[in-house]
Amino acid sequence: MAEEICFFTKDSIIIKPPKKSPALLRMVVVVFTLIFGIYICSICLKQTSTEKTSKYLNIEVIQRPCHNYDIDRSQMPYVHYPKPKTFRRAECACNPVRLFAILSMQRSGSGWFETLLNSHMNVSSNGEIFSVKDRRENASSILRTLETVYNLDFLTSASKNHCSAAVGFKWMLNQGLIQHHKEIVEYFNEKGVSAIFLFRRNLLRRMVSVLSNSYDRYAKLLNGTHKSHVHSPDEAGTLAKYKPEINTTLLITDLKKMEVAAGEALEYFNSTRHMILYYEDIVRNRAKLVDVLKFLRLPEMELSSRQVKIHNGPLREHIKNWDDVNKTLSGTAYERFVQADY
Ligand SMILES: *[C@@H]1O[C@H](CO)[C@@H](O)[C@H](O)[C@H]1NC(C)=O
Ligand SMILES: *[C@@H]1O[C@H](CO)[C@@H](O)[C@H](O)[C@H]1NC(C)=O
Ligand SMILES: *[C@@H]1O[C@H](CO)[C@@H](O)[C@H](O)[C@H]1NC(C)=O
Ligand SMILES: *[C@@H]1O[C@H](CO)[C@@H](O)[C@H](O)[C@H]1NC(C)=O
Ligand SMILES: *[C@@H]1O[C@H](CO)[C@@H](O)[C@H](O)[C@H]1NC(C)=O
Ligand SMILES: *[C@@H]1O[C@H](CO)[C@@H](O)[C@H](O)[C@H]1NC(C)=O
Repeated sequence: MAEEICFFTKDSIIIKPPKKSPALLRMVVVVFTLIFGIYICSICLKQTSTEKTSKYLNIEVIQRPCHNYDIDRSQMPYVHYPKPKTFRRAECACNPVRLFAILSMQRSGSGWFETLLNSHMNVSSNGEIFSVKDRRENASSILRTLETVYNLDFLTSASKNHCSAAVGFKWMLNQGLIQHHKEIVEYFNEKGVSAIFLFRRNLLRRMVSVLSNSYDRYAKLLNGTHKSHVHSPDEAGTLAKYKPEINTTLLITDLKKMEVAAGEALEYFNSTRHMILYYEDIVRNRAKLVDVLKFLRLPEMELSSRQVKIHNGPLREHIKNWDDVNKTLSGTAYERFVQADY
């Protein structure tokens, strides 16, 4: 080996015949090994540093797509990295966002449920956006609205802009949802939108709420303003003073219609990723909300709402023609609504 190196460097350094001084030869070998080592090292360093800068350049120029290695493959269809037109997601640009929609019927507790969800720091649920007729005029205006919401460009008081981990809104079955179900289901499946069905078990209570709310729309019991949701027991008491009279001729038919509407929605949206919730179950057991956070893969957090229930206590106290209603329902499939507390 020593001979080889010696031979190799004959031209550049004058070396006297080896036998004359083995110490000098050893010295030369050591020096060359050192220089060679340093040279190789410097080449290595140069290579890694160019690699680093080129990676950095990619991020700057091509905007490398966000990638989260904590997410398992089965979840890939459900996560998004939106690039809103109206603002920058800044430090949360690479936080995955999940899309959801609360599918419900009026007076089923969806307002209360939505305030609970929105108390989570990473949830933006934008309210009943399809109550505006223009947005649900036809399938294309619905899809355009969905695109805006899910791209985080639909700004409401609920929008938590850059650090939202779940974005959605609530949608009533009669706001174009059933009418355009084909296109909507297709969109949900393509985009991986998760549907949260929220129904009320006691449809008779829902009916009382619908009638009272539509009465208040005209009567405006709270100092001349119509309120669909209240934040104090006093206000709830004022609204609950009104006892609707239920037309018993149509009662069974109307209850049946509500049931059919819910079943129809479940059937149409069966192929989407979905969960079914009942208002009464959440009232009775707040732990149900943990299931919702799990479903949306959100960090667990205590959720709260300032909304107060309007019609408390037995149903008998909230219906003017109670005896008629009770008699009409006794012996039918809906008899259970008469007794239930919620
Ligand atoms: C849908 O409604 C919008 C108005 O909101 C209208 O401009 C558009 O032409 C309609 N599209 C179809 C396909 O009818
Ligand atoms: C939730 O929001 C906080 C603060 O805005 C942010 O730091 C955090 O990364 C967000 N979490 C998720 C899962 O996006
Ligand atoms: C209505 O008016 C009463 C007194 O006139 C007041 O105590 C109450 O807070 C008002 N309620 C609302 C909802 O404005
Ligand atoms: C109940 O509804 C039926 C059918 O619409 C109607 O004929 C009847 O007059 C109503 N009864 C009351 C008490 O309003
Ligand atoms: C949804 O689909 C599953 C199986 O694909 C079926 O068992 C269930 O009955 C369906 N539900 C509705 C409401 O159609
Ligand atoms: C309903 O009517 C039945 C008699 O038909 C009576 O026994 C029952 O107590 C009534 N229920 C309520 C909650 O008033």
